[in-house]
Amino acid sequence: MKGIEIKPDIYWTGAIDWAVRDFHGYVTPSGTTYNNYLIIDKEPTLIDTVKYDFTEVGIENINSIIKLSKIKNIVINHIENDHMGALGRIMELAPEAAIYTTAKGKQGMDRFFDTSKWKINTVKTGEVLTIGKYTLTFIESPMLHWPDSMMTYIKEAGLLISQDAFGQHCASTARFDDEFIEQNSLSELEDSTVDYYANILMPFGKLIKAKITEIQKLGLSIDMIAPDHGIIWRKHPQKAIDMYLDMASGKTNKKITIIYDTMWHSTEVMTHPIMLGIRDEGIDCKVIKLRATPMSVAIKEFWKSRACLVGSPTLNNEVFPSVAEFITHLRGLRPKDRITGAFGSFGWGGGAIKWLYEEFKKMKLETIEPGIGVQYRPSTEDMDRCYQFGRDFAKEVVKYHSNYE
Ligand code: FEO
Repeated sequence: MKGIEIKPDIYWTGAIDWAVRDFHGYVTPSGTTYNNYLIIDKEPTLIDTVKYDFTEVGIENINSIIKLSKIKNIVINHIENDHMGALGRIMELAPEAAIYTTAKGKQGMDRFFDTSKWKINTVKTGEVLTIGKYTLTFIESPMLHWPDSMMTYIKEAGLLISQDAFGQHCASTARFDDEFIEQNSLSELEDSTVDYYANILMPFGKLIKAKITEIQKLGLSIDMIAPDHGIIWRKHPQKAIDMYLDMASGKTNKKITIIYDTMWHSTEVMTHPIMLGIRDEGIDCKVIKLRATPMSVAIKEFWKSRACLVGSPTLNNEVFPSVAEFITHLRGLRPKDRITGAFGSFGWGGGAIKWLYEEFKKMKLETIEPGIGVQYRPSTEDMDRCYQFGRDFAKEVVKYHSNYE
């Protein structure tokens, strides 16, 4: 694929990774893209690079528009490997190019490469680089996604190059939101955007809200958002902003997800009457078995629901290992504005339910207690108790959810 013009004289020159399924532990069944952008102006300027494996693809795309050695400036919005991996090779071909990045970006760059001969300029929010007819304004965005991160705004094009923010992990021949929606659907684009936010940006909701507010106060006119992964928001940039603001404000669906694993099926059997109880309170419910589901899908479904019931058998007085793994992922993502409960089976000891509630509390999540436990195998009475537990849990969730309506 060659470069694609996204605005007059501004080109996408990235790479599509159809094959990646494990993105630093995040399962990517739809692959991803590494987007970067080339501006043809008095001073030709490249914004970001691609993952190392795609260096030659990125170079070919650039060379399809201009000889790479003519590039005068390279903006590095983020130093993570998927966006800066090709920089070493690009600097071999354009050694005179001046690099623009944040102070923390430079620190990281110095660790990844021998930068002794590179001209690196560190920039802060509000600093402007004029490259001809276009001016680039830098906006630091620390922790979105790393401490070094920034965005680049091109005023004359109304274009915000947003780096990781507003992206999706999805490989597609579509470069733009309207193309993707026509070829697939709006709901698929939304789901992909939520999935990415849940697995990558969930811990930073407060910062996201503050950054969007800051950008709004700067009065920037944004008619296109071009992230470094996935689809460019050409037709619906405001949708991307609204989705992020909603997620950062704790908005989600009035829905309950049951996430569980099982040893001899007793915990699994319990999920059915619990789900029926939830359903009979008029609440949507999804049931996810951990070892049958990629972890990042479980995380996404957690995030798309107001509440989560986690089910685990007790094994050697401990929570089941796959459930512990889920909780480890969740803890790192620092979820907020969600309500939780626990259930599970045990033989003679018990312990998983207690452990789960302790973990929920450490994460400062709301809990509905007590959970429900069953010894060995659910009896008919136990199944009735589970059904009632589902109904009672759903009623509490409805009350809690009303805080967000
Ligand atoms: Fe897509 Fe934080 O790198």
